[in-house]
Amino acid sequence: MMSVSTLAQPFATNNEHLSLCTALAKQHGTPLLVLDLNQVRENYLQLANALPNVALHYALKPLPHIDVVHTLNELGGSFDLATNGEVDLVAQAGVAPSQVIHTHPIKRVSDIEHALSYGCTTFVFDSENELHKFVPYRDQVELLLRLSFPNKDAAADLSKKFGVIRADALPLLKRAKELGIRVRGLSFHVGSQTMDAGKYVHAIEQCKIVFEGAVAEGLGAMNTLDIGGGFPVSYSGQPIDIFEFCAPIRDALSSWPDTVQFIAEPGRFIVASAMTHVMSVMGQSKRGGTTWYYMDDGVYGAFSGRVYGEPDQRFYSLAHEDVQPCVLTGPTCDSIDVISDNCLMPALADGDLVFTENMGAYTWTTSTEFNFFAKATLISLQPSLMVAQVG
Ligand SMILES: Cc1ncc(COP(=O)(O)O)c(C=O)c1O
Repeated sequence: MMSVSTLAQPFATNNEHLSLCTALAKQHGTPLLVLDLNQVRENYLQLANALPNVALHYALKPLPHIDVVHTLNELGGSFDLATNGEVDLVAQAGVAPSQVIHTHPIKRVSDIEHALSYGCTTFVFDSENELHKFVPYRDQVELLLRLSFPNKDAAADLSKKFGVIRADALPLLKRAKELGIRVRGLSFHVGSQTMDAGKYVHAIEQCKIVFEGAVAEGLGAMNTLDIGGGFPVSYSGQPIDIFEFCAPIRDALSSWPDTVQFIAEPGRFIVASAMTHVMSVMGQSKRGGTTWYYMDDGVYGAFSGRVYGEPDQRFYSLAHEDVQPCVLTGPTCDSIDVISDNCLMPALADGDLVFTENMGAYTWTTSTEFNFFAKATLISLQPSLMVAQVG
């Protein structure tokens, strides 16, 4: 399934954080996810600085946790919702409905009503079928039409399942007008963990053609462009300067008229680097001369991304001398439950801890409890108090 070459090396973040995670693991047990809300705040501010004219709507999908919502709400952030559960979470956190958009292109009528009852009024569509669902609510809603921009290099290509090609955009905008539904603008997602800013630039240029086409066809001027999520995180250890990464995006947006409001839906970038995972060795055996470590979390838990194309992770232990190739597996009875089949680690004893950084996105939320192995406990380090709270 995977061939991950990972080096056991000194913890990348800092030793103080490693000591804190070790102490928390002793206190709360493993598997454990330690969420640093200061880092969430820092990531948000970095992206806001890199995209100054873009309203950041945190996409709840990668980490739908109320502490993240509170932290971003305090910073004046906005939110991108896709499900009733996400609507309920922001409502519970006291987020003003004017700060949210709902971007799932396919919804049940009851989902639309649920979001409307909270006060969300901007929704996304990408088909005529979906458009018809809004006819009874046309006086209350404004829509964004999602376009598709496939990206085979992304960790998740989000244009396979959603979005229309550019040629189909104007006919759908026309249909919306006939039905009396206001389409406020366009949206897209260039794929999660997109390493090439050119993908955004291409999509922005294509959307501009549609904006201009809509005016030329007498469909009226749209006023919103939503450039989606996808902003990359450094999993390999090679730093990514997000301000530099976004330079071509800033450039591409600078040629748009002032009347257009820009939105982005970052998920991974806001939370990935804010969470550290700690797991313990449950047992071990020698198989074909290689040591296999059976950990207390795996691909049915916080490492589910191993199965669906998430980037390779690096693993750390407290010691980092005399490393040997080894296999790290999860605890379940399934053979696909292998976290890394080519990892370098010092000799570990049962009970020893293994740490993984950048575990904030698509980990806790996609964990299962297969075989009754409990999901990792999530501990938040509160920004103001820096005290641990069980989440
Ligand atoms: C519509 C939409 N917006 C935003 C996101 C967040 O993307 P990312 O985590 O890559 O920033 C996703 C992820 O699935 C998505 O589907």
